[in-house]
Amino acid sequence: MSGKLVVVSNRIPTGAPSSGGLVVALHDALTRSGGVWVGAHPDQDAGDPESLTEIASGDYDRLAFHLSEDDYENYYLGFANSVLWPLCHGRVDLVEISRAYEAAYLGVNARVARLLAPRIGPDDMVWIHDYHFLPLAVELRRLGVTARIGFFLHIPFPPLSALSTLPTPGDFAAWLSAFDLVGLQTRRDTAACLEMFRADPRAEFMTDGTVKFHDRTVSVRSFPIGIDADSFAEAARAPDPEAELGVDTGADLVIGVDRLDYSKGLPNRFRAFGAFLDGRAGSDAPRASLLQIAPPTRERVAAYRAIRTELEEISGRLNGAHSELDWTPIRYIHRGVERSTLARLYRRARACLVTSLADGMNLVAKEYVAAQDPENPGVLILSRFAGAAEDMTEALLVNPYDIDEMAAAIETALTMPIEERRRRHAHSLRVVRDTHVTRWAQSVLGCLATCPPTLSLRATPKSETLTLAD
Ligand code: ADP
Ligand code: G6P
Repeated sequence: MSGKLVVVSNRIPTGAPSSGGLVVALHDALTRSGGVWVGAHPDQDAGDPESLTEIASGDYDRLAFHLSEDDYENYYLGFANSVLWPLCHGRVDLVEISRAYEAAYLGVNARVARLLAPRIGPDDMVWIHDYHFLPLAVELRRLGVTARIGFFLHIPFPPLSALSTLPTPGDFAAWLSAFDLVGLQTRRDTAACLEMFRADPRAEFMTDGTVKFHDRTVSVRSFPIGIDADSFAEAARAPDPEAELGVDTGADLVIGVDRLDYSKGLPNRFRAFGAFLDGRAGSDAPRASLLQIAPPTRERVAAYRAIRTELEEISGRLNGAHSELDWTPIRYIHRGVERSTLARLYRRARACLVTSLADGMNLVAKEYVAAQDPENPGVLILSRFAGAAEDMTEALLVNPYDIDEMAAAIETALTMPIEERRRRHAHSLRVVRDTHVTRWAQSVLGCLATCPPTLSLRATPKSETLTLAD
């Protein structure tokens, strides 16, 4: 690559880049090639919205744009997390249509483009992440940026029918067509994206598989994201966390690790654990405890507050019914834990519950597999609706709407013979290794580098790109 790499994501690491596959992957890509990572400043209202602030530098630069209280409310909590997030996660009932949200979303994207465009040369590669920045390439092109621009959507691609919920449904296709490459998590997502283009009279399918849209050509491909399996395994092998964490040694540990998001299927997971406990009542099987680590997220959105209340009610009820003086079956922790502690807890757990109702990939599933002792591995219970299930077919796949099936899967996991556990784990570990974060970033950027260059740009009046009914 002759130019620099410019990465844009709403969240940007502020300390050491250690948590979450995305941060590790992008840190790795930028460290190798140098460049700049642009994201929202962690301190809201901390600076001038019309300039970028340098927040740290080392092998690459980090620049932050500033969100005002109004931007935070209407762009981040509003359009991004009360329109696009529920839309992409099959919760159209939670979508809140608001002109203020839409205006702020387009406004922040236009502003970030204005701040970025002067810093982007024609040979640079721009890699934009996630649903916060769908219109960013349209805005950059309008300002004359000809550099290759790639996009990666970390969450599920919405079905065509859900897109009709948007105030101007045709926007999605027009926004995406301004990128050279649209990267998605799974083959299912790619199919959904192509279905959207197929239904759009402005799109034309080319013989090489790309989509022509007006005067632009876009490639759509899946690149399943992964983790750095070796470093996670290494952290997991460190000394036993029992003493530090007080994990009940007398019970089989089942673990769940998720942001407290309604897409993660936590109420049904708790209900399934309750049904599993009911099924064991009166038996002399060893005790089992569920440790659920679920830090709150986006709490100013009503749906997130509601899920917290619902879970507290369910766990309280189940613990009331099943606890003994020396045993609490569900431990529910509302905060983040150190990644090294998390890795050791995964290794200690006999089973991991990933029961998302919808999920782009789900990195917890991959972390759990990487953390296991291959000689005596635990069992991953994985929702069919998580992107990870497309390739991790030897996990215990479950329907997260079926409480009894999930309860039976917990029982199966905790009683599974060692040969079967080893066989299933070996398959899952191969998948985790094949989707290593470094390889993931390299394949996206390698593919972007081969996209034909943009030689000239059609002058696009503002009103045309933002009101897309042709
Ligand atoms: P999402 O991106 O929707 O939050 P993923 O499972 O893909 O879901 O990624 C979540 C990441 O955040 C994982 O790397 C996971 O280890 C980390 N994480 C989630 N909850 C916690 C927690 N309580 N403490 C520490 N890390 C967490
Ligand atoms: C998902 C999204 C990311 C987002 C993260 C945490 O992984 O794909 O874009 O950063 O959740 O959500 P938050 O709203 O706290 O940034």
